[in-house]
Amino acid sequence: MDVEKAFHMAAGVGKTSYASNSTLQKKASDMVKDITIETIQELYTATAPKSLGIADLGCSSGPNTLSIIKDLVAAIEETCSSLSPVPEFRVYLNDLPSNDFNSIFKALPDFYRDLKEQKNGGYCPSIFIAGYPGSFYGRLFPNNSLHFVHSSYSLHWLSKVPPGIYDEQGRSINKDNIYISETSPEAVSHAYSNQFHLDFSLFLQSRSQEVVVGGKMVIILLGRAGPPHVDRGNSFFWKLLSQSLANLVSRGETQQEKLDSYEVHFYAPTKEEIEEEVRRQGSFELDRIKMFEIERDTTSMEMSYGTVVATTVRAVQESMIGDHFGEAILDVLFENYGRLVDEEMGKEEIKPMTFLLVLTKKYI
Ligand SMILES: C[S@@+](CC[C@H](N)C(=O)[O-])C[C@H]1O[C@@H](n2cnc3c(N)ncnc32)[C@H](O)[C@@H]1O
Repeated sequence: MDVEKAFHMAAGVGKTSYASNSTLQKKASDMVKDITIETIQELYTATAPKSLGIADLGCSSGPNTLSIIKDLVAAIEETCSSLSPVPEFRVYLNDLPSNDFNSIFKALPDFYRDLKEQKNGGYCPSIFIAGYPGSFYGRLFPNNSLHFVHSSYSLHWLSKVPPGIYDEQGRSINKDNIYISETSPEAVSHAYSNQFHLDFSLFLQSRSQEVVVGGKMVIILLGRAGPPHVDRGNSFFWKLLSQSLANLVSRGETQQEKLDSYEVHFYAPTKEEIEEEVRRQGSFELDRIKMFEIERDTTSMEMSYGTVVATTVRAVQESMIGDHFGEAILDVLFENYGRLVDEEMGKEEIKPMTFLLVLTKKYI
């Protein structure tokens, strides 16, 4: 059984999964796979450890989780000649404690079996896989235990909604919006930007103690193309979700106060903001930063683009929106949202930007 099928069975995932990682994210990882592979191969050639520590931060639970590990192991095997034996792999899968780690663990027997079958009775490397629940905005692993860190579509999630968007009474000053929009007061974008700098700095500082000198990180995260916070990229997707919530308010299916007090803990940084924080924190060299857009091959998609976006956003927002507004609105909200995305795409493209970063731990 292939890993993807095993995953869906182990996770009890039906036709539509809101808990697993998404096809859009898989597509993006595939687009930059060459760079990810090249980076881990370069790292291995330079350091050749007998025991290679790999962490995937924000691994989620779904087919993408083990598929990236499979690719990384294959990349190292390809680099090792008959003279240099394949190292053992220590693989640390991290996500928040609420992640469905059990479904990953249940898929492991099939993962190992597939690997053995592919070797046709030949040598199979030792791969020790463990779950590390916790926030990557803080220490997760022992000192100098990692050689390679991978993180895909996770670091645009802030540790919290920025405190600066609340007034003295604890009410949000970002009424009608759930993220930065044209009608947001200036203080809102400052608060979001400030929170990103604090979080990203803490992330780099924590990893700097865990990654060995010369170790590398490949990070994929959403971002924005230029200084304006409001554009027809990622911020526009949040604007459409606000609109979809406002539609429910106007139909009496939820209350205006609930919309006014809901904010996402997301931030789309610019290239300059990322570069500035890496420089300021000082532990890593930014070898590469590349901005790209996920290719939209709508002809081969079973669902409309709007439905794919709605499913992706639902996967990460469902529990928070459900807690705040009540679960009863979820289906209508996301159906309506998918439709709005499709309508807007019909008028003019929405262009969400993604950044790929390659960083190396400095000797300091
Ligand atoms: C959109 S999913 C990405 C899943 C997978 N990496 C992929 O590319 O398909 C984002 C994941 O980041 C996790 N995440 C968000 N903030 C986190 C944090 N502070 N620490 C650890 N994981 C976090 C979420 O729980 C979620 O599973």
